[in-house]
Amino acid sequence: MTMRLKRIEEATDCIAQGLGGRQPKVAIVLGSGLGALADQLETPVRIPYQEIPGFPSPTVEGHAGALVCGTLGDRMVLAQSGRFHSYEGHDGDTVALPVRVFSRLGITTLLLTNAAGGIRRSFGPGMLMLLSDHINLTGQNPLFGPVLEGEIRFPDMSAPYDRELRLIARRVALKNGVGLEEGVYAGLLGPSYETPAEVRMLERLGADAVGMSTVLEVIAARARGLRCLAISTITNPAAGLTVATLDHAEVMETAGRVGGNLQTLVFGIVQEV
Ligand code: HPA
Repeated sequence: MTMRLKRIEEATDCIAQGLGGRQPKVAIVLGSGLGALADQLETPVRIPYQEIPGFPSPTVEGHAGALVCGTLGDRMVLAQSGRFHSYEGHDGDTVALPVRVFSRLGITTLLLTNAAGGIRRSFGPGMLMLLSDHINLTGQNPLFGPVLEGEIRFPDMSAPYDRELRLIARRVALKNGVGLEEGVYAGLLGPSYETPAEVRMLERLGADAVGMSTVLEVIAARARGLRCLAISTITNPAAGLTVATLDHAEVMETAGRVGGNLQTLVFGIVQEV
């Protein structure tokens, strides 16, 4: 067995043991300042990253570092609290490790959340955006290298974000009076925020929001046939669109403050998948 595969297998075995027979079908990746959702799970089982072989410890403030399995309404879900970003120095394999492990565990649906800067001029802090598509500008790809068992060499990316899940999300948003925009997410390496010129470039490329996560996870998930849905919390206008400067603490504060709407949305979606 290759080292890459062994790493996935070892983490999967450890987590399966921790889950003690629970078989969630839905995993939720929680972005910066959005970790509160993990506390909403009932009868939770918590598996800290330190206990999972191959899982590094998160280095970013606001990312907790544990998998939490529990029920949300009447669905069993597996929440990933704390993700691995390329800008921490991780390669694509590490960023996508949790997703690959989820797939090995029998997860079939992946909901991802993130904090993002708004590029579309009508986007203000606190708005939620369903990802209709993405642009991978990280310069990385988790499929780089030999094809892993369970994946394909050239996965189709013509519909990375599942149409049916997006319909469900819009229906749930409408029913709960939660505003939900839809647009294209540009995933960058970071960790510096963009310059105003870069934001103007991204706007011309067709991006509606910009962030530093999600795209690599979705690529790995699609290579394994997982259905994906992703929602950005717009925490700030992207650089240069206003006179404001950007600050991680403010991004987290905004994400946390408006987290209620996102939780309502995620709860409703999970009940219908
Ligand atoms: N740029 C990149 N990532 C982000 C931003 C941003 O403006 N806001 C939150 N995450």
